[in-house]
Amino acid sequence: MTNTKNYHKITNDERFQKSKDFVQHGDFSVYDHSIYVCETCFKMSKVLHLKVDSESLAKGALLHDYFLYDWHNKNHPKFHGFRHAGLAAENAKRDFGLNSKEEKMIRAHMFPLGLKVPTSREAILLCIADKYCATRETLKGKRKHLKNLIKFRKAPE
Ligand SMILES: [Fe+2]
Ligand SMILES: [Fe+2]
Repeated sequence: MTNTKNYHKITNDERFQKSKDFVQHGDFSVYDHSIYVCETCFKMSKVLHLKVDSESLAKGALLHDYFLYDWHNKNHPKFHGFRHAGLAAENAKRDFGLNSKEEKMIRAHMFPLGLKVPTSREAILLCIADKYCATRETLKGKRKHLKNLIKFRKAPE
């Protein structure tokens, strides 16, 4: 687990904890996903022996999906895939304050979607970790769905 000031400040904040109410992929809330992505960024930086700005990495990673709505709900803002990085950056700036590196990390995390290119080490880690975690969360959900389907089919009449 990462042990930076920003990590604890954000995860203990009740505005950030609201993201527990929004589903990201399968059983993962946006809160779970954000923690998973943040931990993965730090693990990757360790494995690759990369020198990173830990405070910015924690802040950018935890807040990269701080868009604060359920994107599965029909009434969510249109073009979620393209727009949520910008919305998350605006919300994060308003609620937690961001430096330029952190703001750019969040805005570019969906690259190549949205055309904002990750330019810092921290932004590249976030971009890769986000795709890795999203894929694992989605596959985990699909596996669970498949298991339930098989169980249901096997159930006696
Ligand atoms: Fe995202
Ligand atoms: Fe994400």
